[in-house]
Amino acid sequence: MSALSTRFTELTGIEHPVVQDGMGPFKTAKLAAAVSEAGGLGTVSIPGMSGDPAALARVMREHIEETSSLTPKPFAVNVPVGRAEDGQILPISEAYIRAVIEARRADAGIERQLTVLTTSAGFPGEFRPLIADSGLIHIHKVGSTRQAIKAEHLGVDVVIASGYEMGGHTHAVPMHTFVLVPNVTEAVSVPVLLSGGARDGRTLAAALCLGAAGVAMGTRFIASEDNADWHPATARRIVEAGEGDDTIFPGVYSPARGLKSAGLAHLMDLTRQGATAAELLEYKDAAMIRAEEEGDLDSGILPAGQVACGIRDIARVAQLVPTMAAEAAALLSRLASAGQATTAG
Ligand SMILES: Cc1cc2nc3c(=O)[nH]c(=O)nc-3n(C[C@H](O)[C@H](O)[C@H](O)COP(=O)(O)O)c2cc1C
Repeated sequence: MSALSTRFTELTGIEHPVVQDGMGPFKTAKLAAAVSEAGGLGTVSIPGMSGDPAALARVMREHIEETSSLTPKPFAVNVPVGRAEDGQILPISEAYIRAVIEARRADAGIERQLTVLTTSAGFPGEFRPLIADSGLIHIHKVGSTRQAIKAEHLGVDVVIASGYEMGGHTHAVPMHTFVLVPNVTEAVSVPVLLSGGARDGRTLAAALCLGAAGVAMGTRFIASEDNADWHPATARRIVEAGEGDDTIFPGVYSPARGLKSAGLAHLMDLTRQGATAAELLEYKDAAMIRAEEEGDLDSGILPAGQVACGIRDIARVAQLVPTMAAEAAALLSRLASAGQATTAG
């Protein structure tokens, strides 16, 4: 029984309004299962945006099957919608979306569990009919009120409003969570999830106060025991991070945020020296894999949000997710009774 029921938990049938958001190209199959098992909504991430689309779509399908084998609960998949310079959808994005739909078609168990598709990065217009026909709940992640209104007009079911302090790809126009989320919740009528800076029961309560129906977190979940697909040094690095340790670097579709490292400094040098987009992508992918697989956080690159500086422990997801909901509920009811006392007085 959840301490906090919202329009998002009702729509998705999950217990707690806490989502583990996509963190590609890092593998999140086990983490997604742990978050869903804990009553939140876990998300399987894409294995990369460069490479053979058919081969990468097969890898993602394996990750979907792995997550499904680890929990009977609902989970999501995230697919960033990338576009070429001429505006055409990247074949890799299309391959991933079709792989999600095919995985559900091929297996009744996966169809029951894989109920949510989160698109991000570019506008998902071309895919909307396909997603709507598939019966998936469609979440789209945005970084501005204009994008949120456009997504609602398109027919998406839920919007994630993600502020500039978020980890991974952030937005070209820096809108911070505390300003963006109330703007978005005022502007659209679909449920909104706050993303960028959430980490505990207090930040979940704050999200609800801003009109959101839950939170979608990335960085908090890196620092967890259940992030078993990543080298344990990544979780420790998040816990050690202090204020000022994060920085912006050039991403694939927009600026990205990660923790400062020699690998990131070298990426900036390559950018200044005029390396091509393909060279930068290759370097970045290799540096992220070094961080994920070898725990090399010096020459590697670890995307993370500014909230890393406030994360002090390596959590157990089975405890973190329900505790966040219980703490948020307790805090909101304490504030409500304090408000009544003040009004009465
Ligand atoms: C390591 C890492 C990888 C990420 N990769 C993706 C991705 O593939 N697709 C996506 O939509 N967002 C991606 N993000 C953003 C997260 O989904 C989420 O929106 C963000 O982490 C929220 O901010 P927070 O880090 O403050 O919780 C990534 C974030 C991190 C930290």
